[in-house]
Amino acid sequence: MDLRKLIVSAVLAGAFVAAWGVAAVSAQDPVAESLGPDRARFYASEEARSASLPSLSVTGELPPATLLGDEWTLRPEFSRVQGRASVRVAIDENTSLYGTGEVAGPLLRNGTRAVAWNYDAYGWGGNDLSLYQSHPWVLAVRPDGTSFGVLADTPHRCLIDLREGIRFESSGPEFPVYIITGVDPAAVMQGLAKLIGTMPLPPLWSLGYHQCRYSYTPDDRVREVAGTFRDKDIPCDVIWLDIDYMNANRSFTFDPVDFPDPRGLMQDLHADGFHTVAIIDPGIKEESGYHVYDSGQEINAWVQTANGAPYRGNVWPGRCVFPDFTNAAVRQWWGGLYGQFLTLGVDGIWNDMNEPAVFNTPTKTMPLSNLHRADAELGGPGTHARYHNVYGMLMARATWEGVRAARPERRPFVLSRANHLGGQKWAASWTGDNTANWNHVEWSISMTLNLGLSGQPLVGPDIGGFVGAGSDKMFARWMGIGALLPFARGHTGKGNIDKEPWSFGAEVEDTCRRALERRYRLLPFYYTLMREAAETGMPPVRPVFFADPTDAKLRDVDHQFLLGDDLMVVANVNATGPAEEFVVPGGRWRALRVLSGEKEDPDLPRLYLRGGAVLPLGPVVQHTGEISLEALELIVSLDAGGHAEGLLYEDAGDGYGYENGEFRLTRFVAELENAEVKVTSEVVGGQWPAAKRQLTVRVLFKD
Ligand code: GLC
Repeated sequence: MDLRKLIVSAVLAGAFVAAWGVAAVSAQDPVAESLGPDRARFYASEEARSASLPSLSVTGELPPATLLGDEWTLRPEFSRVQGRASVRVAIDENTSLYGTGEVAGPLLRNGTRAVAWNYDAYGWGGNDLSLYQSHPWVLAVRPDGTSFGVLADTPHRCLIDLREGIRFESSGPEFPVYIITGVDPAAVMQGLAKLIGTMPLPPLWSLGYHQCRYSYTPDDRVREVAGTFRDKDIPCDVIWLDIDYMNANRSFTFDPVDFPDPRGLMQDLHADGFHTVAIIDPGIKEESGYHVYDSGQEINAWVQTANGAPYRGNVWPGRCVFPDFTNAAVRQWWGGLYGQFLTLGVDGIWNDMNEPAVFNTPTKTMPLSNLHRADAELGGPGTHARYHNVYGMLMARATWEGVRAARPERRPFVLSRANHLGGQKWAASWTGDNTANWNHVEWSISMTLNLGLSGQPLVGPDIGGFVGAGSDKMFARWMGIGALLPFARGHTGKGNIDKEPWSFGAEVEDTCRRALERRYRLLPFYYTLMREAAETGMPPVRPVFFADPTDAKLRDVDHQFLLGDDLMVVANVNATGPAEEFVVPGGRWRALRVLSGEKEDPDLPRLYLRGGAVLPLGPVVQHTGEISLEALELIVSLDAGGHAEGLLYEDAGDGYGYENGEFRLTRFVAELENAEVKVTSEVVGGQWPAAKRQLTVRVLFKD
């Protein structure tokens, strides 16, 4: 019997054993557990292991932990730095680091620091260490392409220091660390999804273009904006209602003067093929007679001060109380509020200010000593220091569950400003109050990529910039990029200039139309990628190094990205160009400057289709309700062997029929045979009846 094994298994079983003849294993020694061949969990000590609270991120089913064998070489070093729990994982030279959630700046994160701490970062820039979301997770890609990921499993404020290897330092108690290994970064992303779950398949309409501003008011202005999209033939699916639709910023109310007939408004918008998303903030005005306050009072729903009184802080409506989303009864109550609200015809929900943001405090949030009455399964009662980073995620969860229960036949769509590692299960993300400058145009790409590499696939920026005016050129180019990112929404701040696609004159309007027509033509492909994300955790938008993780020159590319494996986007991220210089991964990449028919536009990103790919395209439509896929175009880019293939996922676009086989997954295969390209299709999943359709095949030959 191997004595060391015996000792470690005894430690795993929760006992403490010291033995003669080997270095004594004490309760202070690190604990290393195997959770299968490619993942492991570590604790600073047996004491730390037994004291650890339930994870708020790792919710996937795990096998029973066993002894971690000596063949596992990646071992974190636990220590204390200035009294704080610190963990370091050394990296080999030329290992590239990514992830770390919502961080401004370049894609490649080596040498940077970030602080996982949800923060109302209005007008943020490249030096801000904390933005609205927290993802204590790092993806590491070695020179040979093999990869690993390190997850610091703590909801507490946590420094992520990538200046010398990978180091996490938390202000909270000792925390477990998960390490996932993989043959390439894709394998690690799929391993992460097994720990933290995936995004549920979003409704198809949420993949269309969204138009927002702070705020479209009164209701006729909402109708006017929607009508202009249709008059001008600019595709759009969703119009957003920002806080001014509310009665003096009270969540779950409509302003009786400016929005006297919300049901009628929603009906008109629906009739024109629009969906609506309405904002709901967590700060609840402290005012008896207001139904949300009164019903919350009845269950004592609010986060408390250290003295046990409801905590009060100022947000948009004035003096507010804040629901304690860590408590199941409160989540249930909050979710129930959507029942009534959704009967008005609202389709999706936007949860904002949920870091939670509190005005007139130096920290911009509530005191860390505030108390949450959390469920035992979340770790039980605790202070805001433990629950701050998950407040937004649990709000989104309460919202998602409430919307799902109120309308079980439809897929919820929730957008949340604050979130935490694992929160993709309940909400999509945007990058908050950005600024109209070229840095932010460029960061739209790197931030979407790094959030995708942190488990959150449905992401995009405020296209056009929330703060500041920007320029015509910037708007055109931003729309060109934003239209290719997973969540595509134009938005801007109160008092700012108009930023609808037509606000910058005819030329920019034409570019915006082309950009959005592109998006809509690509939706069959995009939806197929979303389904992959929902199944496996692979982000739809990927860094170019995913095409060849061994190629060093692909590791720090900020103005290019991949859609799936097959489509490479080369964006214009400044006023000049289009840049002639861009990197090309190995293999063939064929220019697809126009999807078909339309005019080439130098402000739009250039597209390149991988040799070996078949790209399914739909027709130009004005909204997703018009998609029938009766006309499908396949663009074929053969590889050196004269072969190409691609997948197409189709279902009803909403609802849950797909869970019972009401979907169709088709594989298209193209082969070059005797100077002819033969295309065949095969249904490889689902039982949805095949649409009768006209298929057009276009073969790209030029290299
Ligand atoms: C916050 C949000 C912004 C929204 C505004 C008003 O600043 O980040 O998107 O428009 O609040 O609700």
